[in-house]
Amino acid sequence: MIETALAKIKIILEEQVNRVNKIKEASTWINYQTLDPLIIGVCPGDGIGPEICAQAEFVLKELLHEETKANRIQFKLIEGLTLENRVKNLTAIPTDVLDEIKSCHVILKGPTTTPQKGGAYPNIESANVAMRRELDLFANVRPIRIPELCIDWCFFRENTEDLYTLGSRGFAVNSDLSIDFRVISAPGTERIARLAFEYAKNNQKKRVTVVTKSNVVKATDGLFSEVAHNVAKEYEAFGITLDEWYIDIMTAKLLDPARRADFQVMILPNLYGDILTDEAAQIQGGVGTAGSANIGKSCAMFEAIHGSAPRMVTEGRARYADPSSMIKAASMLLAHIGKTELAEKLDMAMDICCDFAPKVKITGKADGATAQEFAQYLLAILKDQNLKQTWQQYIIK
Ligand code: IPM
Ligand code: MG
Repeated sequence: MIETALAKIKIILEEQVNRVNKIKEASTWINYQTLDPLIIGVCPGDGIGPEICAQAEFVLKELLHEETKANRIQFKLIEGLTLENRVKNLTAIPTDVLDEIKSCHVILKGPTTTPQKGGAYPNIESANVAMRRELDLFANVRPIRIPELCIDWCFFRENTEDLYTLGSRGFAVNSDLSIDFRVISAPGTERIARLAFEYAKNNQKKRVTVVTKSNVVKATDGLFSEVAHNVAKEYEAFGITLDEWYIDIMTAKLLDPARRADFQVMILPNLYGDILTDEAAQIQGGVGTAGSANIGKSCAMFEAIHGSAPRMVTEGRARYADPSSMIKAASMLLAHIGKTELAEKLDMAMDICCDFAPKVKITGKADGATAQEFAQYLLAILKDQNLKQTWQQYIIK
């Protein structure tokens, strides 16, 4: 029994050493400005995914109209990333779908259902997790902004390591004992920490916080903490400081009105980042209000931070789903490919629609606006020639 387990662990260790060595190989960042055409893949996903992804795609296409007309940007629909097709192929991402995804430079992705052990579907791996791994999308960037509470947080969640790396590779040693693996590497931590510090430097942020449980989880969180502190030394000259908070008290402090607005940039291992960003999004108004960027050196994927809400579909409420998360993801996509002005415009229009326009209030039910009504209203706001002034008036109020 122990021998069988050891044989499995040996294979896993060898694979991990190879994976980490690959991270260390030098590779350069893709330059989106030189792509002609730049290809945006759209994966609608499942559950409420197709509904809310369609609205984000609609807004993106409106904003990028000139570029698509001139064929500098192309949209490519990728249809096979549905639960049915994944279940049919018994795989997280069928090979032909993955090839299509890889032929794009950036991806707009709707939520995809992750089957659960013992549930109605075969227990296949999460499509998100597989895509992040296959495309090496190592940084999950999740901004949370609540102007009226002076909150402007940006979470840098490591996206390929921690309990996720081998989340589908744990096993039962015997009927009483199961084992999973937590993986943290120095190169994997360094690249997420560096991205967070670069963001801080470029956005005049002076405080970066690393979130761990390194007092208890000594090897892996200990390494994460040590590497973050080493990277921090390079940024002292820019007046940026690093502090470390344990995940438990950090979870509490996000709810503390006296302290929370002081946090600016957070670096977290994958699972703590998963959990803490849902909490942060809830403070902002719910997970439906938060978008996220999954960034790698050669491509990037933009999505909602939440799941596919199958319950909304079975209850016939899919059309009332909040498309804000996907539209915010679309804005991050625009900023990532260098269309910063369009992204700023979209953010301003979203502020007006989300916080100030009761007639497009989303409730998730028939008493609220539909995702499509929201997007149509957003488009009307985007067409306002005086958007910036309108926005300033709203913000001052
Ligand atoms: C997220 C989601 C995913 C995750 C799920 C769907 C696998 O919760 O993007 O935060 O755990 O990373
Ligand atoms: Mg999550």
